[in-house]
Amino acid sequence: MVRNLVDRLFRILHDGKRRKGPPSNSGISRTPAIVIDFRSGSHEIKMVRLETPRLTLIALTVQQMRWQRDDFARLERALGLTASGQRLEDELQPVVSRAISQMRRRPHHARWHCQWAAVLKEERRIVGSLAFKGPPNREKTVEIGYGFDPAYHNRGLATEAVGEMVRWALSEEGVETVIAETANMNVASMRVLQKVGFVITSATQRYLYWKVTGR
Ligand SMILES: CC(C)(COP(=O)(O)OP(=O)(O)OC[C@H]1O[C@@H](n2cnc3c(N)ncnc32)[C@H](O)[C@@H]1OP(=O)(O)O)[C@@H](O)C(=O)NCCC(=O)NCCS
Repeated sequence: MVRNLVDRLFRILHDGKRRKGPPSNSGISRTPAIVIDFRSGSHEIKMVRLETPRLTLIALTVQQMRWQRDDFARLERALGLTASGQRLEDELQPVVSRAISQMRRRPHHARWHCQWAAVLKEERRIVGSLAFKGPPNREKTVEIGYGFDPAYHNRGLATEAVGEMVRWALSEEGVETVIAETANMNVASMRVLQKVGFVITSATQRYLYWKVTGR
């Protein structure tokens, strides 16, 4: 579990290089999202909650990210979830802290910096985390990362969540491409990306680079 959390957050929050390639047809459709607008100082912040058949995907606010880091049970209470006994690994706290600073510095881009909690509706439990690695760049590209609790692997949950996050991202203004990278031994992650419609754009000895476009 600890190792998984490390892998998960490393993958989600480390800075990946953005690559641009030819457009492909993903067949991804645009779906509506519940958008919560609120004001923080002079900035309007749009936080989002997406629904899939089995999951609710919640873009965490700065406060919720603090609870994720400092008091996971408080986060679960705030979201109306069952207490799971989960906690964030100590070594990951600076990583989450960095994401919080980025959200505070650029609140209008908070949804591109925050953690997204994947809540399994049936159990009212956080079973995975997803994140974009920053706002759209000049090539109108965002990068996605994700990780799920091993106890919930191979049930199609990551595919469901990544598919919805990609659909949502491609429906956002200024986004035309979503990219991802996988270690070339990470068969499960590669399979998730394939199922969602990503194609490989390039490879190194250790990594594969993927993309999906909305066109
Ligand atoms: C990658 C990860 C998110 C997948 O989560 P998941 O909920 O199990 O994914 P899904 O159930 O939607 O799909 C997994 C697919 O991989 C397949 N798979 C898993 N392990 C496999 C293996 N060793 N060999 C071949 N296929 C494998 C599953 O059969 C399934 O494919 P299928 O639906 O065609 O049968 C999860 O393994 C994880 O959290 N890993 C650690 C963090 C990580 O690697 N993140 C990604 C970084 S880019």
